Amino acid sequence: MERSRKLQARAAGLLPGGVDSPVRAFRAVGGDPPFVARAQGAYLWDVDGNRYLDCFGSWGPMILGHAFPPVVEAIREAAAKSASFGASHAGEGDLAELVRRCFPSVERLRFVSSGTEACMSAIRLARGFTGRKFVIKFEGCYHGHADALLVKAGSGIATLGIPGSAGIPEETAMHTLALPYNDLQAVETAFALHPGQIACVIVEPVVGNAGTIVPETGYLAGLRRITREHGALLILDEVMTGFRLSLGGAQQIYGIDPDLTTLGKILGGGLPCGAFGGRADVMEFLAPLGPVYQAGTLSGNPLAMAAGIATLRHLIEHQGEIYTELENTTAAIADGVTELAREAGVAMTTNRVGSMWTWFFTADAVTDFAQASKSDTDRFGRFHRRMMEAGVWLPPSQFEAAFLSAAHGPVEVALLLEAAREALPNEWQSGTISAAPETSGSGNRI
Ligand SMILES: Cc1ncc(COP(=O)(O)O)c(C=O)c1O
Repeated sequence: MERSRKLQARAAGLLPGGVDSPVRAFRAVGGDPPFVARAQGAYLWDVDGNRYLDCFGSWGPMILGHAFPPVVEAIREAAAKSASFGASHAGEGDLAELVRRCFPSVERLRFVSSGTEACMSAIRLARGFTGRKFVIKFEGCYHGHADALLVKAGSGIATLGIPGSAGIPEETAMHTLALPYNDLQAVETAFALHPGQIACVIVEPVVGNAGTIVPETGYLAGLRRITREHGALLILDEVMTGFRLSLGGAQQIYGIDPDLTTLGKILGGGLPCGAFGGRADVMEFLAPLGPVYQAGTLSGNPLAMAAGIATLRHLIEHQGEIYTELENTTAAIADGVTELAREAGVAMTTNRVGSMWTWFFTADAVTDFAQASKSDTDRFGRFHRRMMEAGVWLPPSQFEAAFLSAAHGPVEVALLLEAAREALPNEWQSGTISAAPETSGSGNRI
């Protein structure tokens, strides 16, 4: 870890906390984050030559594994024709057609450069279209870091244990109603309290940013019904679940027809890219056709379009095998570790849909953020450090989903289960360890 430590010391003097995104700092689990030198398939290598089995996939995008040859080739070809035009090109339509094939509810869409931009723009559009101010979101859901959406958010906000962010005026936050997830009565009550004032409900259809939380039967359909009854828009934030749970995301597997959908992560094949789209009549409220303004210098960037096209084409062509294998491999890992925890007497609840999952260190069912918060985060931290030492890189927070890629197979399942077999009883017996060991994250020297 010597080289990583040196780079960390340099980064700490240049970037706040040494990072460009808070959860990368490993604050919640202790230890120094390794600095990555390269990644291939299911593995990451750090600058000290340690290899890690990647179980977070760049927080979701890398569904085909790292440096997947068709994606690398597509980026190379596009880069040779210039990294950016700032003008229309065929790649935007090509990717838009592929998105529409996967998401029939998306009649029109606009590309942006991140999931944050996608959600922020979708909210503005919903407010512009309905002429209403209030937005309903759910506790523990994260929709990026736009002002209106950082209220009781998940991901880094949950990891750092803060209710929101400084710098957001009360006048902005007051129009965001944060309700418990999986509780339709709370939504009914909010609509009753604010008649004709709620523009939209935005939801992670399967929550990933409080750890994985699954919608209860009828919950998403209930949101659809209530929003329709009250003339509000339903926005499914599929930045994480889009192309991951199935080609058509969560809306395909749960049979929901939202007004708007936000996408990101896999959409750009690892390059910065997002999109929001949905009903044509709503999307046509956007400038230059309508009064809602939204723009971006790098929106529809040719490199991002090329990486997205290569990724989606591969997913579409191989959907049969890919999603079945992802399901089987992830089930083997998620259930295998749950069984090891049971044998070791460690309280664990596992939530999983397809290739996203979370091991919560609690015996109780986790159906909302309040329950997720009851997890033993110290124990998670110890487990995480021991897994890092064994060369397995899990997301460094109890409140984040883990992901696998199509590059993970039986070898990786065996490797992870072996690591967990050691890590679980160890951390169970060594209940006195609470500070991060100096050497944590040393990984597998190869
Ligand atoms: C569901 C969801 N929405 C929005 C975002 C924000 O995306 P980005 O980090 O690309 O801005 C994330 C990021 O993790 C996310 O998981």
